This record gives sequence, C-alpha cells and structure tokens, in this order.
Amino acid sequence: MNDPVFLRAARGESVERVPVWFMRQAGRSLPEYRALRGTGSILEAIADPALACEITMQPVRRYGVDAAILFSDIVVPYHAIGFGVDVVPGRGPVIAQPFASAADLDRLTDLTESQIKHVTDTVDLVVAELADTNTPLIGFAGAPFTVASYLVEGAPTREFAVIKTLMHRDPVLFDHLLDRLVAITITFLRAQVAHGARAIQLFDSWAGSLTRDEYQRFALPATQRVLEGIADLNVPTILFGVGTGELLPLMATAPSTVLGIDWHVDLDEGRRRAAKPVQGNLDPARCLGGVDLGVAAAREILARAGRESGYIFNLGHGVLPATDPAVLEAIVRVVHDEGMAGVR
Ligand code: CP3
Repeated sequence: MNDPVFLRAARGESVERVPVWFMRQAGRSLPEYRALRGTGSILEAIADPALACEITMQPVRRYGVDAAILFSDIVVPYHAIGFGVDVVPGRGPVIAQPFASAADLDRLTDLTESQIKHVTDTVDLVVAELADTNTPLIGFAGAPFTVASYLVEGAPTREFAVIKTLMHRDPVLFDHLLDRLVAITITFLRAQVAHGARAIQLFDSWAGSLTRDEYQRFALPATQRVLEGIADLNVPTILFGVGTGELLPLMATAPSTVLGIDWHVDLDEGRRRAAKPVQGNLDPARCLGGVDLGVAAAREILARAGRESGYIFNLGHGVLPATDPAVLEAIVRVVHDEGMAGVR
C-alpha cells in the first residue's frame, strides 16, 4: 500500500491532497469525548486502553483527519515512574513534590516497558482499528525542557521563574535533570513506535519562554539527543513549540523531519525560517467564530502555505475546548479540496 499522505508530506514528498490533523483533536471540544470521559483524572482515562483507544478514534471518525494522535499526556511517563503527578481539570499537571535538588534525581528512575503497558496496549488497539484505512497513528512525548518546566515549577506557570532560576543558578544540576528526562523520553517514544506509531511529535510547548541563548544552552541539546535516540526507527518526527518565532532557525537544526509552527509567525515566513517541511499554523481562536469565519481563516493559511511540498495543515496550538466541531469538519474539507502544497 502507498504511504499515507501525512507521512509523505512529512517527508517533503508530493501528495494528492494536503494532509490535516489537529493538535488536541481528541478532547473537550467533542461532545462524544465529554460523554465518555466522566469526571475522574485524565490519567485514569489514559490508564484504560479500551477507553483511550475509543477517544483516540473519535476525531478520526468525525473529521476524517489524515492522522490519529494517541490519547495520552506528556506527564504520563512521570506518573508511571511514581514521580507524583496529577492532572487537575481546568488547570493542568500538578506535582506533589516538585524537583528542587540533586536528591530529586533519584526519583527520576528509568522508565520500563511494563510501567507503560497501558500505553502500549492502547497503541496496539488503535493500530488495529486504523489498519483498514491506512491512517497513521502519531505517538508523542513532551520535550525535556517543557517537561522539566512542570516538574520544577510544580504547576502550570506563565513566568517560568522557578525553572529559569534553577537553570541559571545550578546549570550542572539542570543538565543532570535533562539527562534523566532524555532517557525516559527515548524509552517512552521507542515503545510507542515499537507498537505501531508511525510518526512522533515532540511537544516543546513552552520553549518560547526562553531567549535564543537559553534555548541553545538549556533546551536544544536535550531535544537533539531525544531525536537522535529514535533516529534509527525511521519514523518522521515533528518538533513543535509555542511562541517560537525567534527560535525557529535554531529549532530547525534539531534533526526532526518537520518543524511545527505556531500562529505567531506567518506561515510563509515560518517556512523560510524552518527550511524543512512544516506543520501549522491556524490560530485556534479563529475557529471560535463559526464555520464561515473558520473556513476563511483556513484559506488564509492555505494561501501562505503556497505550492511547495512538505506541508501539513494544523492549528498553531491545540483545539480550544469551546470550538464547535462543525468548524473543524469544514476546515478539513476545505484543506482537502483547496490545499495545493505538494499536490501534483
Ligand atoms: O488530541 C490530542 O492532541 C492528544 C491528546 C493530548 C493530551 N495532552 C490530552 C489531554 C496531547 C497531545 C497532550 C499533550 C500535552 N499535555 C501538552 C503539549 C501540547 C500542548 O498543549 O502544548 C501539554 C503542555 C500537556 C499538559 C496538560 N495536560 C495541560 C496543559 C492540560 C490542560 C489542563 C486543562 O484541563 O485545561 C492537560 C490535560 C489534558 N491532556 C486534557 C486533554 C484532552 C484536558 C483535560 C481533560 O480532558 O481532563
């Protein structure tokens, strides 16, 4: 069978239509998600492979997107090793005892496959369901810097003051922390691919909080090592962060196949800075005004995407919970019908 359009676009090859998927496509914008999900911690839902598989499939069925993304979370491996993580609805990951000193390195033990059996069982179920349509499953992890920001801050933050203080006050300890996260992340990603994930996205969501010097010193090397640690698996990789306009040329030096572009940079300019295949970058807020406004916004992105190959349509960050699924349905149609990038 031909490789699906998503994988070919990621590799910069020609396609018969522009592929599209949405970060956070499985989630609270879908009524069928809210109906299944109940009120417990999201980590409980993720621990139930049949439920997690069904949630992964919901947006694939409804939208006809060109890839599924595993229903999981960037904190799952750290929960699995017993670091003391919960995900509080409406708030995000919270750590009972945040990482603060060298003694905490011992709490970041290597991840074993048995600790994430629920994840690989979910991958098995999803891959079996996707086989008919040859739709690829994207596995993912948080990039070391973004994960470190949660482990050190202990909760979502806008300032990143605790982690920035730690990295500048004790760069050696920070390097040791990232070493631990690199090892765990590689194991987590390799397990997903071994069970059939056909692409990987590395979420460095909060890299945009760093200056270029900080990114180069404190984030990029660990991201590079993660990507090198899965390079032999030969699956396309996507590196993504938010507010990364100034960082894109540096991020592009990491060996990912694709660079994810958030909405702060015009897509054509983002493509120039990346100089490799790109994914993005419709502002998720522009999906909140109904179908006509959403479709018009998607057309602006398609115009900036141009005709050159190596383009995957996505939002510039995750789907907002208030998004009407009808808007995303209409956007998938317009991308498939009108997208020209790489179409021969
Ligand atoms: O559809 C998909 O994209 C797959 C599912 C997915 C989730 N988390 C499920 C989830 C993915 C790819 C993630 C990654 C993730 N988790 C990131 C990187 C992507 C990004 O948004 O930048 C980050 C930073 C996290 C940490 C995290 N987990 C946050 C900030 C939140 C939101 C808290 C809230 O309630 O608003 C979560 C919880 C979470 N993870 C939800 C979902 C669907 C929502 C809460 C729920 O349904 O209980």
